[in-house]
Amino acid sequence: MLQENMIKELIIKSLEAREQSYCPFSEFAVGAALMAEDGTIWKGCNVEISGLGATCCAERTAIFKAVSEGYRKFVAVAVVGGKKEEALEVICAPCGICRQALVEFGDLDTFQVILAVNTEKYEVYTLGELLPLAFRRGDC
Ligand code: THU
Repeated sequence: MLQENMIKELIIKSLEAREQSYCPFSEFAVGAALMAEDGTIWKGCNVEISGLGATCCAERTAIFKAVSEGYRKFVAVAVVGGKKEEALEVICAPCGICRQALVEFGDLDTFQVILAVNTEKYEVYTLGELLPLAFRRGDC
């Protein structure tokens, strides 16, 4: 379990990431902050494309940024999301594709998924709780 100060730090970074969200179609702004094994934090926001299938979620933006810079192992992610101009009130859970992408680079039992409204209001799950019976690299 991450220490509380690290959880709060990740939430702050995810809120910062959300500021950069490009979401002209849904106006639903999402931010993610992904922590690598060595403590490096990678931020990502959702990027929407008019052919909506090309949209990339905040979590995968953060993963792809990090992996493309050589990082492969991560320990936690914080996610925040909600209507762009509105105050956040409820948590935003990662979509199925993002859960699968996180499983590629995170441990099912120890990777922490922090779903936050702010630094005082958040829930913490393991990756395994979010994606039980995950299909993984070793399975094929
Ligand atoms: N979105 C994310 O960024 N992460 C998720 O896990 C859920 C959905 C984005 C995609 C799209 O830009 C917007 O939220 C509405 O679905």
